[in-house]
Amino acid sequence: MVRIGLLGYGTVGQAFAALVANQTRIPAEIVVALVRNPDRRRDGPPLTLTQDPSQVVDRPDVDLVVDVMGGKEPALPLMVRALSHRKPVISANKEVMAEHGSELAELARRYDVTLAYEAAVGGGIPLLEPLLTHFAAAPVTEVVGILNGTTNYILSRMESGETVSRALSHAQALGYAESDPAADLDGTDVLRKLSLVIGALFAPVKNLDQIPRLGLDDYLPMVIRRVRAWGYRIKLLARATRDGGAQVWPTLVPEGHRLAAINGVHNVVGVEVFGQWFWMEGAGAGGQATALSLLADLYRGYRFGFRAGRLDWPTPLETRPLITPWLAFGIDPDRPPSRFHGLPGSIVESDYIVTPPADQPQIARWLSDNPGLIAYPLFNDNQQGGP
Ligand SMILES: NC(=O)c1ccc[n+]([C@@H]2O[C@H](COP(=O)([O-])OP(=O)(O)OC[C@H]3O[C@@H](n4cnc5c(N)ncnc54)[C@H](OP(=O)(O)O)[C@@H]3O)[C@@H](O)[C@H]2O)c1
Repeated sequence: MVRIGLLGYGTVGQAFAALVANQTRIPAEIVVALVRNPDRRRDGPPLTLTQDPSQVVDRPDVDLVVDVMGGKEPALPLMVRALSHRKPVISANKEVMAEHGSELAELARRYDVTLAYEAAVGGGIPLLEPLLTHFAAAPVTEVVGILNGTTNYILSRMESGETVSRALSHAQALGYAESDPAADLDGTDVLRKLSLVIGALFAPVKNLDQIPRLGLDDYLPMVIRRVRAWGYRIKLLARATRDGGAQVWPTLVPEGHRLAAINGVHNVVGVEVFGQWFWMEGAGAGGQATALSLLADLYRGYRFGFRAGRLDWPTPLETRPLITPWLAFGIDPDRPPSRFHGLPGSIVESDYIVTPPADQPQIARWLSDNPGLIAYPLFNDNQQGGP
């Protein structure tokens, strides 16, 4: 019997407890859950709740700790304590894993116990595990993803004319958004997940804070309308290349490409190998979807042993801003592209300018010389992305 202690018993924790109770493949029981307020009403299976962290991470009859509490404090020190007691840790916490994954992995290796975090990226989609085991040794050249269900859901609703704040309230009501949605909206959440994707595929990221990042900016309602007329949709894409290029930015995707068809809370990741793309897609947020990935990590550990074996943490990778073409246009539709100073090599159409491949700092300098012009990166892999 695997005796599980939960850090947190909120949206994901309750869905996970329900899944554990309703499956028969893993002999497991949840013995205790740490919460802030034991009197809060909960819909999940009734559990022993505690406000004392040692009742979860120090107790000898807890074999394994599942972190579903979010935030760095006190989750990080509690994960450290659990690993130091040789308790395997399964986590949904992208913030902790993106910023402190290396030190936790080091501990897990030292004590030879599992540290698994499939649930931290892509909700219920099998994602990190395929990257770590199926693609990690392959000559992957590029990875692209829609990695935040909340912003993708908001963008989808904005396309039907809804405001950001209304769309956000819907996302929160459905349990997709974090209680503090700032990290969703400003692209930080995507950046953290991109770093875990890069870490699984290539190597851990050395300079996370230098990856160009933009979330949902104030221009988007207008931009969504304008680019639609030119055959594009806008998606908050995370992209990285083997040579260290990386970027999180609202990006124009040709209509008809499979990335353009990922709506609502769905997430997707594509990996390019030998010029061919392989796609993984599904529900990227929500309690039940995320709990599926926790259950998968639990099952893998139960089946193959809760050992640190999978934790390969190679020399850190120094990223640089991704080089990509950009599509630029005047904020004022009456100011045609010909009225701006072109970037050398640009293609000037009547409504917009397509730049030669350039990185975000280069484009930012060009935009500052051309007030009234805005630009978004283009994603075009020259495939229309069939399944
Ligand atoms: N929701 C999603 O769709 C989703 C998707 C992917 C990953 N995740 C990740 O999964 C984790 C959990 O998310 P969630 O949506 O389930 O969050 P949530 O509903 O806010 O639940 C958090 C739980 O942790 C407890 N908690 C928080 N801070 C605590 C503290 N300082 N001391 C004791 N208990 C504390 C809360 O106790 P109370 O109940 O008493 O307040 C609550 O039970 C996060 O890392 C999140 O990023 C969530």
